[in-house]
Amino acid sequence: MFSGKNILLGITGGIAAYKTANLVRLFKKSGANVQVVMTPDSKEFVTPLTLATLSENPVHSVFADDETGEWSNHVELGLWADIFIIAPATANTIGKMANGLCDNLLLATYLSAKCPVFIAPAMDLDMYKHGTTLENIQKLTLNGNKIIDAQVGELASGLVGKGRMEEPENIFNHIHNYLKEGLSLTGKKVLITAGPTYEQIDPVRFIGNNSSGKMGYELAEKAIKLGASVTLVSGPTNIIASKSIDKIDVRSAQEMYDEVHQVYKNADVIIMAAAVADYTIEEVSENKIKKSDSSMQINLIATKDILASIGELKTENQLLIGFALETNDEEANAKAKLVRKNLDFIVLNSLNNKGAGFGYDTNQITIIDKSNNIDKYELKSKSEVATDIFNKIISLLK
Ligand code: CTP
Repeated sequence: MFSGKNILLGITGGIAAYKTANLVRLFKKSGANVQVVMTPDSKEFVTPLTLATLSENPVHSVFADDETGEWSNHVELGLWADIFIIAPATANTIGKMANGLCDNLLLATYLSAKCPVFIAPAMDLDMYKHGTTLENIQKLTLNGNKIIDAQVGELASGLVGKGRMEEPENIFNHIHNYLKEGLSLTGKKVLITAGPTYEQIDPVRFIGNNSSGKMGYELAEKAIKLGASVTLVSGPTNIIASKSIDKIDVRSAQEMYDEVHQVYKNADVIIMAAAVADYTIEEVSENKIKKSDSSMQINLIATKDILASIGELKTENQLLIGFALETNDEEANAKAKLVRKNLDFIVLNSLNNKGAGFGYDTNQITIIDKSNNIDKYELKSKSEVATDIFNKIISLLK
């Protein structure tokens, strides 16, 4: 969920600031990039060195550093953030945020940020209950900020009441849940096939093809980013998949068929991007075949069409997507495949397009759906193509 996300942590001058070291660790451990912006007073409660070490980034707290002359650009920092969390947020900072004041770097960054902003207040109970504070918090909520409410407990003053900053683990979970809910494939299961298949001739030789698997792996990574749980049934490739992908390695068309049939029932979306061999060897030789002077023949028999077999079995609630790689009569051939294999849509790439197909980092596709809508796309990176394909999937899931 947090992998590659930019988290900006704003720390203000309250005793709970010491707990933010743990918050930085939680975000870092989950794969996020973290930067910290501190108000001058907060440095009395937690050292910038601790936070810089844990976040693996310099800490920002002044517009211009007297010693180094370095300038912290609040606009850049605000735009860098995917999520801005201000924890702890004191009554003073909340008051200034609610009223547009920006007499320190943290406040200027807040006004520059375009991302979702979370605020975890922390103060003494009477300050928290004060009408002015409540009004300020309401104003911040109306402006779209998300308040992570303070908790009841023992406070730094020795009094007991509402005002303790929410625990770092809960702040982390709060943001985690927010990200999860915002993803369009949360709760969906996606099954993808990728790569070539190898059909063994004898112990040392096989028939394969030039598929690199890049398109299928890009689709798997994209589905993970959109919140889906992903099973990737992959033929032999050199690509390393993210840990969050449940990867099943196969070699032959028959193995791919068996694995897909084991898992397809649970999938909401099935995308078959593998370049499956259409023929396999009738009789695999147990021993290495010796050469002879004369020519040789290998008997090939048809493999099972995995996509077509799932097309026969799929339920109404499952989306089935296939690929077609064509050299001639592209659209007519792709449409015929769409109908024959009972697909919701087919992704056509023509070998006539430069930069599209096997081995390239780019692809140029046309999507044809079962209602005969045809969308043609520009030549794009395979990662962007994956985005286009999932946009189509998301529109059909709605
Ligand atoms: N496919 C499959 N199992 C096979 C062959 C193909 O699942 N044994 C899937 C591919 O993953 C792809 C689609 O079918 O999504 C199109 O494959 P392609 O080889 O282009 O089409 P074929 O139906 O085999 O037709 P032809 O080779 O005649 O073009």
